[in-house]
Amino acid sequence: MMGYADRFFLALALCLGFVPLWNPRRTTEAKARIQRQPFGKTPDQKVIDLYTLTNAHGVEARITNYGGILVSLKAPDRNGKLADVVLGFDGPEGYLKNNTPYFGAVIGRYGNRIAKGRFSLNGREYRLALNNGENHLHGGIKGFDKVVWGAREVKRGPALALNYVSKDGEEGYPGNLSVSVVYTLTDNNELKIEYSATADKATILNLTNHTYFNLAGEGSILNHEVMINADRFTPVDQGLIPTGELRSVKGTPMDFTQPAAIGARIEQQDEQLLLGKGYDHNFVLNGGGAPALAARVYEPVSGRVLEVYTTEPGVQFYTGNFLDGSIKGKGGQVYQRRYGFCLETQHFPDSPNKPDFPSTVLKPGEKYATTTIFKFSAK
Ligand code: GLA
Repeated sequence: MMGYADRFFLALALCLGFVPLWNPRRTTEAKARIQRQPFGKTPDQKVIDLYTLTNAHGVEARITNYGGILVSLKAPDRNGKLADVVLGFDGPEGYLKNNTPYFGAVIGRYGNRIAKGRFSLNGREYRLALNNGENHLHGGIKGFDKVVWGAREVKRGPALALNYVSKDGEEGYPGNLSVSVVYTLTDNNELKIEYSATADKATILNLTNHTYFNLAGEGSILNHEVMINADRFTPVDQGLIPTGELRSVKGTPMDFTQPAAIGARIEQQDEQLLLGKGYDHNFVLNGGGAPALAARVYEPVSGRVLEVYTTEPGVQFYTGNFLDGSIKGKGGQVYQRRYGFCLETQHFPDSPNKPDFPSTVLKPGEKYATTTIFKFSAK
């Protein structure tokens, strides 16, 4: 038999146990598929957060408002087993270091290279920061990958809306620019990225995301089979600046119109493969307009498939050639050369100096809007 005291304590314990369940705030949070937690602080004491987006199938994307970085993405293999398929770090420290190779980040104002960091617009020459030999790369010394973005959770989706105002003159670019990047995780296992922007002066803009994927979750990516929906690519010089030509991929190691293993031809002593350096090239996509299939990647051991759809005219296929084992990432993994690949949807590199390439000019009164979708499945 229970005495009064026992009943009292039992009742109290029950109450304490159940109170959190009755708390309406907690109920909402449990249902919500986006959750925020503190991630850390930048050296100048700005607080940064980590947002976890989860869909109905348990697919999960983690994004920080520092650099708009996609920190992790868990996708199922053919047996439903989840693995994190993007390179990066467990905590904020790795991302805050200056030599991080843009893991997962939003890139701006200009994704990829601008020759000698110079371009002319409306009769005026602009000079940008030089941070890649004599060239400008990925927005400069402090690009959009290294700034703290405003963030707004959108429960339906779930989605995360990031915004940033880049001041006139930042990294040498003209005009105040207001940028928004919305990440949505759909129940079709798609991570959709919508970029939009307006400027108060004519400027140039080419936004992308620099996620390094590894569909096996770790190790070399050379066994991944890649299809790129492109009949042409933009050949480059030794500094990786396009020559201006659009060249057919036929009969070259750039031909991914039929699926081919990344490793199949990567070591060929081909002039365009930069004599064995690897893939770091912009492909001229056959699609256009509404998000069209740009690439499909299949990893035969796990069965994971990544499809990339975009409204952009190009995609930079980069095979992690500059990773050299000096970075220790998630769970102590050492990122060796070619342990990750990027599919950076974009306008072509150096477009501001190539009048025949699709224009990257954004004028006041115009709205910049592009969409890229990373879709995960398994077979
Ligand atoms: C892009 C470039 C590469 C390299 C990486 C970052 O993909 O095209 O050449 O700079 O970013 O290391």
